[in-house]
Amino acid sequence: MSVKKIVILFSGEGSNLENIVKKLHKKDIKGCRIEVSGAICNKEDAKGIQRCKRLGIPFGVIKHTAFNSREEFDEKLVESALKFGADLVVLAGFMRVLTPVFTERLKAINLHPSLLPLFKGANAIERSFNSDMKVGGVSVHFVSSELDGGEIISQKCFQKDDGMSFEEFKKRIKELEFELLPQAIVKILKD
Ligand code: GRF
Repeated sequence: MSVKKIVILFSGEGSNLENIVKKLHKKDIKGCRIEVSGAICNKEDAKGIQRCKRLGIPFGVIKHTAFNSREEFDEKLVESALKFGADLVVLAGFMRVLTPVFTERLKAINLHPSLLPLFKGANAIERSFNSDMKVGGVSVHFVSSELDGGEIISQKCFQKDDGMSFEEFKKRIKELEFELLPQAIVKILKD
């Protein structure tokens, strides 16, 4: 059975990281054994770090502020992801735009809380909630050097009912993220 290693990049809460670990780490799925071999965070006070410790996932902190350019930061990210043996890098709440130094070396996917190509960038949940659209949704796409711009892999959406509160909307987004990202990872690793 082939072993496929995932490295997760995050910047904050890390709830998707925890979901991926619980659903996929050390699991045999469709003829392949998946391991979350490491995680990388660019903020030393990110809550997700506590999750890595609790879940026993090796992690590294690489602060983007310590580098003179985005390219130098990305070099270090690539080096670290390769040390963890990454077959696939998963961006789950990683708040940096990556340059070709990274995107041309590693296969990477990103989770975004809107139906791309709508609502790229920051505050996507708020903007999608406040829009005239009758659905909300989430997307997983390949990472390119364009913010939230790489090829879309998969999406899920839900009905934005009249009178739905922002809290309910956010909860539905999170539920769909927890379904979509693990499914997309399996799909990519299998292909
Ligand atoms: C998610 O909403 C994801 O779509 C976006 O950042 C958020 C990360 O949440 N890119 P968490 O850190 O996994 O809790």
